[in-house]
Amino acid sequence: MSSINYAEKIPNNVNLQNDRTLQRALEHWQPHFLQWWREMGPTDFESADVYLRTAISVDAQGWAHYGTLKMPDYRWGIFLADAAPERKIGFGDQMGQPVWQQVPGEYRSTLRRLIVTQGDTEPASVEQQRMLGHSCPSMYDLRNLFQINVEEGRHLWAMVYLLHAYFGRDGREEAEELLARHSGDTNKPRILTTFNEPMTDWLSLFCFTYFTDRDGKYQLKSFAESAFDPLSRTCRFMLTEEAHHMFVGETGISRVVKRTLEVMKELGTDDPARIRAAGAIDLPTLQKYLNYWCSSSLDLFGSEISSNSAASFASGMKGRPDEQTYQDHVLREASMAIETPQGAETVPMLNALNEVMRESYLKDCEIGVKRWNRMIERAGHALRLTLPSSRFRRQIGPWAGQPVDTQGKLIAREEYERRLEEWIPSERDRAFVHSLMQRVIEPGKMAAWIAPPERGINNLPVDYEYVRLQ
Ligand SMILES: [Fe+2]
Ligand SMILES: [Fe+2]
Repeated sequence: MSSINYAEKIPNNVNLQNDRTLQRALEHWQPHFLQWWREMGPTDFESADVYLRTAISVDAQGWAHYGTLKMPDYRWGIFLADAAPERKIGFGDQMGQPVWQQVPGEYRSTLRRLIVTQGDTEPASVEQQRMLGHSCPSMYDLRNLFQINVEEGRHLWAMVYLLHAYFGRDGREEAEELLARHSGDTNKPRILTTFNEPMTDWLSLFCFTYFTDRDGKYQLKSFAESAFDPLSRTCRFMLTEEAHHMFVGETGISRVVKRTLEVMKELGTDDPARIRAAGAIDLPTLQKYLNYWCSSSLDLFGSEISSNSAASFASGMKGRPDEQTYQDHVLREASMAIETPQGAETVPMLNALNEVMRESYLKDCEIGVKRWNRMIERAGHALRLTLPSSRFRRQIGPWAGQPVDTQGKLIAREEYERRLEEWIPSERDRAFVHSLMQRVIEPGKMAAWIAPPERGINNLPVDYEYVRLQ
C-alpha cells in the first residue's frame, strides 16, 4: 500500500516530493483551484463546519477519514490505486503487451482530449450544484451535497495531475482552462451539454447523481481498463468515491417515492393535484424528471456509430467497462446491428462501442427503478416507473432531433411537440417542484416531500448535526 504524507501541501501517494518540477507546477495551480472553489463552489458555506470524509489512502480496508472541517480547508489530494505488477494491455490491437507508463507520441492528443473531457465534468457539476445548499431538505442531505462537491473537486485534481505530469506545457494550459470554463457560461461553457443544464432543485440533484454520476462511473470503468497505466490507476481510485454519489441519487429518489406513497395512503388517493397540495411529489412528476435526466445522460456516451470509439479501443486507450467479462477483446471480426430511423444497420463492433456501453449503463440504471417499483407495488398501486427509450430526446447520434416518444416509437413531429410536456417537466412542473424547496436545517428534521434516510453517515444517528452553520 502506498502511504500518503499529510504534512505536505498537496497530499499524495505519487512521490511528488521527488519530482520538484511537477511539485512546483501543481503548487502553482493550487491557489487557482482554491480561488475557483471560493468563487464557483457552494455559495455562502465557506465558514460552515461540515462532517466530511477525506481520502487518506487507497487501502480498501480504510481509505477514508471522517471529521469536521470547513470546506476550503479540505485536503484535496492525488491518489492512485496501487500498481498491478506486470500489468498487460487487456484489449485492442496491442493486447498482451506491457501497459504504458508514459504517453505514446501517436496517442498524445487523443488521450489529452479524453482526460480533459472527463476532467471538465468534475468542476462543472460543482458549479451546477452551487446554489442547492440554500434549499436543502435536511442537514443530512446538505452534508451529502457538500461531500459530493469536495470529491468532485478531488476528481478534478486527479485529472489535473495527469495533465501536469504527462502532457507538458499543453497539459498545464489545459489545467488552467479547466478552471476558466464554467457551467452554463455563454462564452465559455463546459464541454458536455448535460453539465451546462441548470440545477436549481433537489429532485434534479437526485436524478443527476443517479443518472449522470452513473455515466461517470461507466466512463471511469472504461478508463480503468486503459493501457495508459497512470490513467487506469487514477480512475480505479476515483470509482471508490463515486459510489457514494450514486448512493445519494438512488436513496434520494427512494426517499421521495417513500414519502409520496405515505401521503397517498394518508389521503387515500393517487390524484396528483391532491398529492401536490399536500406538499409531496406525485409519481407522474417524478417520472418526468427521470425521463429528462436519463435522456440527457444517454447523450454522454456519444454517437451510436463512432470512429473515435473504434480508435480509442483498438489502440488500448479506452476499454469497455468490465472488459474481462467479455470473450473477444480485439473485436476485429465482430459486428453489431444498430437501429437507426432509416432501419437496422450492421456496423463493425469497434464502431458500436458507445452503444455497447450505453446498453450496459441502462441495465445498471434499471436496478434502482426495480427497487422503486417494488415499493410502489407493495403499497398497492398499479403505476410503474420506467426508463425512457434510448432514442427519446437524443441530441447526438442517428436519433438526434427525431420525434420519438418515450417508448422509442417515431411519431409525427407535431404530435411530439404537443406531447413533450407529458414526458418531461413543464414550466408548471418545475415551478411546483421549486415551491417545495424550502430549507430545513434542524438536525433530524426532513422537508415534507422526502422521507428520512434509513441511517446516518458513518454510523452516526440521522439527527446528528452534520453541518454547523456559522
Ligand atoms: Fe467525479
Ligand atoms: Fe461523482
